Parts: sequence; structure tokens; C-alpha cells
Amino acid sequence: MNSLQPTQETTLTGHSELWPRPSPPEAFAARRRRLREHLTGSAVFASGWARARNFPDNRYAFRAESHFLYLVGRQIEGALLVSDAAGERLYVPPEDPSARLWHGHEPGVAELSLELGLDVRPIDELGSLAAAATLPPQDPRAAAWLSDQLRRPVLAGLGAALGSPDRELAEAMIALRLLHDESALEQLRQAARVTASAFSAGMRRTRPGCREAEVGAAMQAAIAGQGMNLAYQPIVTVQGQVLHAHRQDGIVQSSDLLLADVGAETPEGWAADVTRTWPVSGRFSATQRDLYQAVLTAQAAALAAVRPGARYRDVHLASQRALLECLVDLKILRGSIDGLLACHAVALFYPHGVGHLLGLDVHDMEDLGDRAGYAPDRQRQLDPSRRYLRLDRDLQPSMVVTIEPGFYQIPDLLAAVEPAGPLDKALDRERLAAFQDVRGIRIEDDVLVTATGYEILSAAIPKTVAAIEAAMAG
Ligand code: GLY
Ligand code: MN
Ligand code: MN
Repeated sequence: MNSLQPTQETTLTGHSELWPRPSPPEAFAARRRRLREHLTGSAVFASGWARARNFPDNRYAFRAESHFLYLVGRQIEGALLVSDAAGERLYVPPEDPSARLWHGHEPGVAELSLELGLDVRPIDELGSLAAAATLPPQDPRAAAWLSDQLRRPVLAGLGAALGSPDRELAEAMIALRLLHDESALEQLRQAARVTASAFSAGMRRTRPGCREAEVGAAMQAAIAGQGMNLAYQPIVTVQGQVLHAHRQDGIVQSSDLLLADVGAETPEGWAADVTRTWPVSGRFSATQRDLYQAVLTAQAAALAAVRPGARYRDVHLASQRALLECLVDLKILRGSIDGLLACHAVALFYPHGVGHLLGLDVHDMEDLGDRAGYAPDRQRQLDPSRRYLRLDRDLQPSMVVTIEPGFYQIPDLLAAVEPAGPLDKALDRERLAAFQDVRGIRIEDDVLVTATGYEILSAAIPKTVAAIEAAMAG
């Protein structure tokens, strides 16, 4: 490339073009209007407060409640959005001139009102909220405060068990948030682009002998340096069989596969959730390549099933069948695919679901339990092949889901196979031992359902064996 041309990621001045771009105020006004169409009574949304780490002035970074962010788009601490027949009003804490010494200028009522195109008022003008519906916040302080205002118990994090009128509000928010509008999609695309640059940085930083934390830090630096946060606690590990391994103190050896599950979050709160698995040496061994290809085939089968009207449980099943076929081809398992499905052989190596909703939350709206993920007439099945499936709706255009099959050798699961049972008979342990250099592989993409099929928002991140080896060589 001509060195005077800006690259995709940097301008001639060296500034990142991936710096987050906010959604227009009209996008939030449109969401609030649509919410009103669903509501009969009044509703109130708390933003919450930053939580103390170890004493009140030393706090975790503030992240507003997602339902509030969906409707307001700004991380305003201690704020309350009220929606009723008179319209919407945002109540904010009183201006505190002394706070400027420590925190600099914070916009006041008039400035916020202008910026947000919203009726903004000081919180001491808040009237009675006794009849309002609300959704339980994650923040216990906000829950206690709402309990006071609403004069009824609001329990932090208990969105799975709602009574009226909160249940109706939850259904209304789910109806809105399941299908992403243009501004939401633009935010999700921005998060995916920054996440792609984090994966480039992580692959470049991987060297035999380094620590997992060095790769993790390079990925986090790419995200933070482009004005975003992490959407969830990242997983960067050579122990991929620990599904949500959060330790990063391991030394990375040249024979290892490194699994990284990392996603950026935009300042408005929209998430990416991506996993790639790459060989530390830069080249997959023959056994690593075989199993990587098996997971890739399972992902391709799942993607091929993604289209409007498809039931997500069938997408899950498509990935399970494809993985089983590959494991039979590799002679790790024996028997018919239907027989293997019946004895839950797939859950031995791929115990989790094929994915979940993605939006403002990495598992979108899981604060409401399975209410968002499962259609009203469906329930989570508790058998080993489906108990961790977080989504079973019919797909519709503008939904965003993850597609993330995996293969793992999990000692506890392998040890728990009933001797001489159907699974034991299906499993060739000697053959499996030949694949010892594979502990865990997951391949995860963020996928928009379109009118005709799907679009992979995270497609820029190397995924095929050839693309990963080329990226590592670069
Ligand atoms: N990063 C968590 C998940 O993939 O669901
Ligand atoms: Mn995921
Ligand atoms: Mn993930």
C-alpha cells in the first residue's frame, strides 16, 4: 500500500477512525415514542450509581443500566427517566459546584436538555411514582431507592420473576430491544470493528513464552485506546477447556492453542462478543487443524441455518449434528448421528449453547431471565444437550445473535462418562488421546439476521486456518 494512504484504522494524522461516533438524539426520541405505544400506564427507568470498591470514594467505573441506556444513550449517574401520558422526562441529580474541583464540568439541566432533546429536570421536582412500572436494576442502591419511591419492593437483579405492571413493561422493552434499529446496528458495527482491531493486536502480541496476560493487555489496549470499554470480562487463555477462564497468569507454550473471547463496548453501551482460537506457534498442528476445522464446520452449519423464520434451537441442533459428523469422521466417536444425539454425546465436547442475543448486554436482556431469550410458549429444556441454550426464538430480520460452537476436552465431563454406558461405547478414548494438544476451541461471531439470511458483523476477524496462519505470520 502507498504509505501516504491512510489505512482503514488510522488517518494521516495517526488518529484512529474507529473512535466512537454517538447516535443522533432523534434515535432515542424514536425509541421512547415506540415504547409509549406499548404502554398504558407510567414507567420509570433508573440509571443506577457507580458501586464502591472498598470505600465510598473509590468506585468501579460507572455503567448505566441497559434499559436506561437504550432510551437515553448517556451514562448519567443517579438519573431517572419517567415515561407517562404527559411524555418523557429525565430527572437528574442536582448540580454540585464543589464536584467540579474533582470531576471537571458536568452538563447541567439546561445543557443536557439541549443535547438530548429531552425534558430534563432536577430530581427534587420528581412527583409520586407510586403506580409506575419499573424493571429491577442490577444496582442494589438503585433497587432500594426505587423501592422507596414506588412504595413496594424492587429487588436488584430479579427480572426473572416479575408481577404486573413490571411484567408488561418487560414485554414492551423486549419487543423493542429484540429488533435493532439503524442506530443500534451502527453501534454494534462500531463495537465489532474495534474488537477486530483488538484481535489483530492479540494475534500480533502472541509469542511462545509470553503470558496470557500480555496478549490480553494488548487486546484491552486496542479497545481502550479507541475510546471503548470491555463488554464483559475477557477470556484469554491456553486453558480453553475452562469455558469462562478468567485467570491470565499462564505461560503460553508454542504447542498451545490460545483462546480469546473478547468484546468491545461503545460508550452508549453496545457490545461485541467474539472468540477466536489460534496456534501460539503460528501454525496449527495436524490434530489442532482437524479439530479446528470440525468447529469451523459446525459454525458454518449453524450459519447456514440462520434466516428469518428459522427456530434458533434448530440452529443449535445444526451445529451439534455437524460437529458430531466431524468427530465420527475423525474416529473420536462411533455410531449413528441420531444415536449419538440421543445419548448426548455432543454435550461431552460441546456442552454450551450455540449462542445468544447480543445488544446492549453481551447476553442481551438476560437481566430478565429467559423471558427475552425464550419465546412465550417455549421453555428451556434441561437435558445435557440443551440446558445451556440461552435462546429459542424464531429469528427475525434485525435480530443480532452470536454463533459460537466449540470443542473442549473437559476432564470432569470425560471422567463422569458412565462405564459401559452408551456414551462410553461411542467414545474411542485411545483415539481422543491423539488430540491431546487441543484443550479448547471456540469460534464465535456476531451475526445480524437480514431479510434473506445473515450478515456477520465480526467478519473482518481472521477465522479460516489459512487466514489465521497468515495473520500470525504477518
Ligand atoms: N463471552 C461470553 C459468551 O460468549 O457468551
Ligand atoms: Mn457469546
Ligand atoms: Mn464470547
